[in-house]
Amino acid sequence: MEWFIFQTLAAIVDFGGERSRTHFGAVWSGYTVDGRFGGRGDCLRGEPNLKESRKMKVALLTGGGDCPGLNAVIYAAVKKGINRYGDEFVGFLNGWRGVLDDKWIPLTLERIDGIQLTGGTILHSSRTNVKKIPGGIEQVEKVLKANGIDALIALGGDDTQSVTLALTEAGIPGVGVPKTIDNDINGTDATFGFDTAVSIATEAVDRIRTTADSHNRVIVIEVMGRDAGWIAYASGVAGGADVVLVPEKEIDIDHVAALLKYNYDRGKTYGLVVVAEGCHLPEVGQVIGSKQLDSFGHARLSGIGEALAELIEKKTGFETRSVNLGHTQRGGSPTAYDRLLGQRYGLHAIDMVHQQKWGRIAVLKGTDITDITIKEAIATNRRLDQRFFDVISDLEARV
Ligand code: F6P
Repeated sequence: MEWFIFQTLAAIVDFGGERSRTHFGAVWSGYTVDGRFGGRGDCLRGEPNLKESRKMKVALLTGGGDCPGLNAVIYAAVKKGINRYGDEFVGFLNGWRGVLDDKWIPLTLERIDGIQLTGGTILHSSRTNVKKIPGGIEQVEKVLKANGIDALIALGGDDTQSVTLALTEAGIPGVGVPKTIDNDINGTDATFGFDTAVSIATEAVDRIRTTADSHNRVIVIEVMGRDAGWIAYASGVAGGADVVLVPEKEIDIDHVAALLKYNYDRGKTYGLVVVAEGCHLPEVGQVIGSKQLDSFGHARLSGIGEALAELIEKKTGFETRSVNLGHTQRGGSPTAYDRLLGQRYGLHAIDMVHQQKWGRIAVLKGTDITDITIKEAIATNRRLDQRFFDVISDLEARV
């Protein structure tokens, strides 16, 4: 019986499995004579080498918005790297900023003990666009060379990975791990952090339901997700919201009012609306919290919940309030799912390094962790399609 349970768990979890045991050896030793990263001459970049794996000095960093599960990736990559490959690790602080400033900490087995259970990132984060900084790529190259770094593992979303791609195109050996609560990275079925964000948002919808009901109110709940509606879709449906609004579709305020009125006419005296921060209001478009753009050119999306609540109250006459869940969705410890997914990504990432899969990023396809090119991953955003719109509309009242 115990053996059966173990086998079943192993099949579900697939920690590395046969693929990681037959990893290709890495022979990366530093830089070529022209100052670029290079091998010992017995392998070509990106091609697997069947020689025995050599230990490497690997640097990790976390860029962009933090996300529950980042520490789980760091934990697994460092643990396997040290135990299986004999690697040495450093972690650059504050994303690409730490590489430019040469700020890092050693990552030892003692330092990573227990971090897979914790939220945030022990390496801290920033939104630093190296490509926009004159001499940025050269500075990264210089710092990595000075520290004897053989390879980089960058944990981040499309912005962070656009820098990883630029660096690998400049000859710097690096791989990516996709990170975002928004779940919008092309080519991967799920990013860690999304499950945690959805659990938190769903719990919030549950809690808001009882107070909305008591006070006979409509409450609009604004969730994150940038231009993708994954968090709104998942928490709205899981939380049983009456109206779920996603950025992939423009808001039809008459339809929203009709849905709420339909319920009121049938004796339900409250309403729950989940709206994604990136939704487009008619004649207004996206609601921006601050005009200041980050270094990747993104405005801060925030405030659509409040604007929508005003419109709903005007249209329906129902007392309407709004709640913006904001960064509560990104904080706190990761769910079991995200701890597991993060660790699986970390295990794959360190294998990718030893297989010299430069310019590639770990992804989840079905139940398998595999990898694709960073170029493909950042070419477009993964957004909701008709299948998900159907789920939302099939659960709506018929109006
Ligand atoms: O990309 C993750 C995310 O949480 C988005 O959902 C949100 O729009 C953005 O980051 C918020 O960023 P910041 O933490 O810089 O306000």
